[in-house]
Amino acid sequence: MRIVVTGGPGQLVLSLAERGPARGFAVIAVGPPMLDLAAADDESVFAALAAARPDAIVNAAAHTAVDKAESERDLVFAINAAGAGAVARAAARLGVPLVHVSTDYVFSGDKPEPYVESDRPAPTGVYGASKLAGEEAVLASGADAAILRTAWVYSPFGANFVKTMLRLAESRDELGVVADQRGNPTNALDLADAVLTVAAHLQADAAPELRGLFHATGSGEASWAEFAEAIFAASAQSSGHTARVNHITTADYPTPARRPANSRLDCSRLAERHGVRLPDWRASTADVVARLVAELVEGTGS
Ligand SMILES: NC(=O)c1ccc[n+]([C@@H]2O[C@H](COP(=O)([O-])OP(=O)(O)OC[C@H]3O[C@@H](n4cnc5c(N)ncnc54)[C@H](OP(=O)(O)O)[C@@H]3O)[C@@H](O)[C@H]2O)c1
Repeated sequence: MRIVVTGGPGQLVLSLAERGPARGFAVIAVGPPMLDLAAADDESVFAALAAARPDAIVNAAAHTAVDKAESERDLVFAINAAGAGAVARAAARLGVPLVHVSTDYVFSGDKPEPYVESDRPAPTGVYGASKLAGEEAVLASGADAAILRTAWVYSPFGANFVKTMLRLAESRDELGVVADQRGNPTNALDLADAVLTVAAHLQADAAPELRGLFHATGSGEASWAEFAEAIFAASAQSSGHTARVNHITTADYPTPARRPANSRLDCSRLAERHGVRLPDWRASTADVVARLVAELVEGTGS
């Protein structure tokens, strides 16, 4: 099965490329300059995707810099909303299924419990608003689509919280990390496995319950501070750098974008309908940290 994924060397794109072949998927990434969603019209998006001869399309491309997004509204909406719509219309025209990836930041964070798919979105920032508009564009496109909302993505690739913590620990003994935001850390490699399974289901089975909105995060929950502590515990086990984590509040660490205090997602629907449950975040974090520390020692890290 040929999976054509939008985007350049981002976390999910590289994770799909790593996980796909062993499971019998050919993964073809189509990103800038061939496909630039910032300046995309339907014809150019269709042409770029059609040339890659997809059996299914994954829309992993996004503007993901949550704070920068606050001052780049037009660009963010072009990529995350208009771009997502163009990719979905191309999938519909090609007659192939689409897996579109969205975010926990479509929610306000006011709910005390984990969010389910039927909860009302109310994003607190530009990034979340643009991703919500992207979901709406996908749903309106007529594409045969599943939308997977994920969260707190980390991996051995690209820029992410795990890499930032390990880098900071090279020069600092202690760090202040926010302890009053809770979410579900998600290894992009685990997410890639879920995306591939869902894409295969969409291609093989026309059942309506396999389509629509799903939540897809690592199992278990954490605050950013707990996540950091787990990263350093795993780093210590691999003889990597560690730092002491001081728990601070969101108010102590002002950022341009307001983040939801609770962005935990209930992933039961994905488990019930697709038989997919992502691994526990602690085990996956330990795997990624061990790999990153080994790459640092060998000097092969990116
Ligand atoms: N990272 C998170 O914590 C997080 C949380 C929730 C949801 N998500 C969602 O998960 C998905 C994957 O995220 P990720 O972590 O893999 O993001 P990432 O590492 O930031 O990668 C972003 C991807 O988008 C591509 N891209 C950016 N601008 C583009 C443009 N104008 N045209 C075409 N491609 C463009 C990038 O290609 P280049 O490398 O060539 O720029 C890259 O492949 C996204 O939909 C994101 O919204 C992420």
